[in-house]
Amino acid sequence: MKVLIAYYHFGETPKVAQRFGKLFLANGINSETVLIEDTKNTPLKKQFKLENKLEISIQKNWDEYDYFIIGSPVTSFSSAPVVNQFLKSLPDLKEKKVILFATGIGLPGNTIKKLTGILSTKNAELIDSEIFSSIFPFDEKKLKEVDAYFERIKDKFKKN
Ligand SMILES: Cc1cc2nc3c(=O)[nH]c(=O)nc-3n(C[C@H](O)[C@H](O)[C@H](O)COP(=O)(O)O)c2cc1C
Repeated sequence: MKVLIAYYHFGETPKVAQRFGKLFLANGINSETVLIEDTKNTPLKKQFKLENKLEISIQKNWDEYDYFIIGSPVTSFSSAPVVNQFLKSLPDLKEKKVILFATGIGLPGNTIKKLTGILSTKNAELIDSEIFSSIFPFDEKKLKEVDAYFERIKDKFKKN
């Protein structure tokens, strides 16, 4: 059983993604963490008008993974365009399980709804979603919320 943790961007979201990685490791679950990028590393602010033109650069053997953890910052009350485009670029995910997470400052808007909508075209099973919010940089105390969240969901991962 293998988990792919795919996230964007450079500050708070990777802290949560890496925390998930540590928690999987501590629980004997094989996971891999990857930054979602487009071939031109388009800055976030320029992505909004270019979403459908972004060429996702991650190349993976998607069949290898049973679970996908997808993380995005909340950007303008929604998910980051490159994360949307990443989800759209994936093949059919039948029999795969997905957890969505987002980081933000407390105004999540339609972030999870947007990602869920795209995911629904991929036939994956969405098993959970969560938003981690703070107006401050995520410190150890904040990351304990990720630990607590993981405790709540860890039984959803089959260890085989
Ligand atoms: C352009 C931009 C738009 C944002 N819009 C929102 C928003 O609508 N709601 C919210 O809660 N946070 C918003 N934020 C804050 C980010 O979601 C938050 O700081 C997030 O944790 C950043 O993650 P990152 O450091 O991994 O990019 C915005 C940040 C940026 C840069």
